Amino acid sequence: MMLWYLVLCVSTVVARNTSEGVQDDTQIFDYYSMPALSELDDFDLCLRKPDAVYCIVDMVLLEDDTPLYQFIKNFSSSPYKKYMHSKLHRGVCASQNCGLNISYANASESTAVALKECLNTSIHQGYGLQVETLSVRYCKTKADSLPIDALDLTIGAILLALLLVNLGCSAYHFFWPGEKDEGNKYMLAFCVQKNWKALKHGGSAEGGLFKCFQALRFYTMVMILGLHSMIFIGYGYTANPEFIEESYDDFFKALLFNARVIVQIFFVMGGFLMAYKMLVYAETHPFTLKTVPMALVNRWLRLMPAVLVVMGLAMTWVPHLGSGPMWDAVVKRERDMCRSNWWQLVILMPNLFPFEHLCLPQAW
Ligand SMILES: *[C@@H]1O[C@H](CO)[C@@H](O)[C@H](O)[C@H]1NC(C)=O
Ligand SMILES: *[C@@H]1O[C@H](CO)[C@@H](O)[C@H](O)[C@H]1NC(C)=O
Ligand SMILES: *[C@@H]1O[C@H](CO)[C@@H](O)[C@H](O)[C@H]1NC(C)=O
Ligand SMILES: *[C@@H]1O[C@H](CO)[C@@H](O)[C@H](O)[C@H]1NC(C)=O
Ligand SMILES: *[C@@H]1O[C@H](CO)[C@@H](O)[C@H](O)[C@H]1NC(C)=O
Repeated sequence: MMLWYLVLCVSTVVARNTSEGVQDDTQIFDYYSMPALSELDDFDLCLRKPDAVYCIVDMVLLEDDTPLYQFIKNFSSSPYKKYMHSKLHRGVCASQNCGLNISYANASESTAVALKECLNTSIHQGYGLQVETLSVRYCKTKADSLPIDALDLTIGAILLALLLVNLGCSAYHFFWPGEKDEGNKYMLAFCVQKNWKALKHGGSAEGGLFKCFQALRFYTMVMILGLHSMIFIGYGYTANPEFIEESYDDFFKALLFNARVIVQIFFVMGGFLMAYKMLVYAETHPFTLKTVPMALVNRWLRLMPAVLVVMGLAMTWVPHLGSGPMWDAVVKRERDMCRSNWWQLVILMPNLFPFEHLCLPQAW
């Protein structure tokens, strides 16, 4: 018995030895042989030191004949399903890991050169690969913060005033509920109670001729929310990009990735209801050419207040609400886009302009 046990042990060890030997000879790579697609050093720990510099960089690996590079190239060769693994993204605590001092914080040419040398060294040590080009998106220091400007104050004051009118009117209604439907019609439009009632009982939420639309709206909305969550996972720096790449082969996740097709349902419903409403309107009112622009103006007035509030917040106060390595790349970028391209949304035609420069792309 003992002898058999010994033989078994020895044979497994030999087998292990030989299989390892084979692996070493033919260089079998897997996902984790490649350098991580994106990696962020700890932002808060880094910026605790007074002279710290934290930089966000993108770099491209130098094409060479090493088996690993060939593996990476082959792996990234289906661009729809795989990330480009020869293009790496890093958030580097440059002061700690690369010895840069605060004079490099301007993200100039010398910053890029210094960081390239530093990252090339670590990539070369870890993987035998080299960095061909490196670009610095921006660097953050401890003192770096967005100043509050005149636009911030103006929009803040307007929004605060709106909020106060809301509160005042709601309180008035709460304490003197008697005179309900009297009073200034425009004043009443700001009451929480009145709007809540309209939201609950207004329209044909309980059914009517187009009851089935509620179900369509529900499913469309679920898909669209799911899709947008997926977009943001894929858009940021993920620790496990493999999961996203494999999602394309999963039927249900692929369904979500392609959910934008489902937005057509909204167009069909919107167009149908608009035509229906116009026909009903035309039965009781004179319907002339002038009605069409009036309908457009009506729609504009209905959408614009909400759009303006969201846009106002995005270009003023939202960027002040946090910080982080990717904060400037996402939130501050949106602020800058909105400050220059807000008018595209105000004329409600954002989809005539380049998508990358839209303010609030979700509002297309
Ligand atoms: C396993 O390999 C090592 C060196 O790689 C060697 O020293 C050792 O003797 C081997 N063991 C067996 C059981 O072959
Ligand atoms: C390239 O990748 C495919 C699968 O992605 C694999 O089947 C093929 O063997 C790879 N070719 C080389 C030379 O590694
Ligand atoms: C930063 O480093 C550069 C070169 O490494 C040096 O010339 C410069 O004086 C340093 N600046 C500060 C503020 O330490
Ligand atoms: C960064 O550049 C701006 C102008 O481009 C300059 O005004 C500022 O002094 C520079 N800051 C440092 C730390 O070099
Ligand atoms: C990267 O680093 C290695 C090792 O230090 C060096 O041999 C190589 O020339 C460097 N490559 C580039 C593009 O700087």
